[in-house]
Amino acid sequence: MAEEFDPGWLELREPVDAVARSEALAARLLARLPARPRFLDLGAGTGSLLRWLAPRLGRAQVWTLVDSSRDMAEAAFDTIADRADQVGFPVTAPNRRTLLVHAPGGAWRIETLITDLAEAPANLPLANADAVVSSALCDLVSRPWLERVAAALRLPFYASLCVDGPARFTPPHPGDARVATGFRRDQARDKGFGGPALGPRAPAAIAEVFAARGFAVESAPSDWLVRQRGSVAHPALRDVADPLLAALVEDHAGAAARQDARSLGRIEAWAAARLAQVEAQRLSARIGHRDVLALPPRG
Ligand SMILES: C[S@@+](CC[C@H](N)C(=O)[O-])C[C@H]1O[C@@H](n2cnc3c(N)ncnc32)[C@H](O)[C@@H]1O
Repeated sequence: MAEEFDPGWLELREPVDAVARSEALAARLLARLPARPRFLDLGAGTGSLLRWLAPRLGRAQVWTLVDSSRDMAEAAFDTIADRADQVGFPVTAPNRRTLLVHAPGGAWRIETLITDLAEAPANLPLANADAVVSSALCDLVSRPWLERVAAALRLPFYASLCVDGPARFTPPHPGDARVATGFRRDQARDKGFGGPALGPRAPAAIAEVFAARGFAVESAPSDWLVRQRGSVAHPALRDVADPLLAALVEDHAGAAARQDARSLGRIEAWAAARLAQVEAQRLSARIGHRDVLALPPRG
């Protein structure tokens, strides 16, 4: 069964994701696309990747937002329309399934596809796509899923924000190792893609699987840096740092407790200490991510 996500969490992480994504790697993807490219966005959530990538392309484009959650797809249309409105791009809906954002360089045509990606690639309209893209999805998938999808693709495959390492919370706390061990175990749970989730092995697995099929694979770091000591906060992150850190602490504690119920008391004590540090603005975190791009051979 597909893992469920809270749209509130996606909203919280969007500005941090936007700052973390690799501009250079995205530019490499965009340079390979036709005049009016058609994107298939796997696990699109509320459309965060579209909101980041579409203006960088800056011309007419078509998006199919694929997600198992109907609520998420509805939230995507609402959020995209609201944000377009905020920057003065008119929005129309020629029918209930389509949204058109009339951006200055050309319209963005957006549709949603509600389906379980566990069935991919059989349920994906690959013949109508110029690139398969995703954001914060590929650490959930399994190796067999990745191999199946790669075998069906002759298109660019862009996987933004794949987790590639443990969270580093600063300052250190004696409970960090216990929580990290539980969290790492939980990352490998089957997340509905027919096998253990790749977790932090996702970037290496994508590189291996696609390179074996003749794709040219590149990657770039896209770490989250949330209130690093000695650094000036990015203006877009000022308001989200505290709630994001609190959500990260709770997420880590919840995952660790799921895997190590006998240590519940110590995990709760860790979470309480970390939340007090958030409150006192003494906590910072670095979460390792990578953006990965696999380009098929030309011709
Ligand atoms: C971590 S969120 C990322 C959302 C979005 N790409 C972003 O960057 O904000 C993962 C998304 O994948 C979707 N998802 C997870 N498992 C799925 C599945 N088996 N089939 C379709 N969508 C799935 C979730 O509903 C969620 O919207």
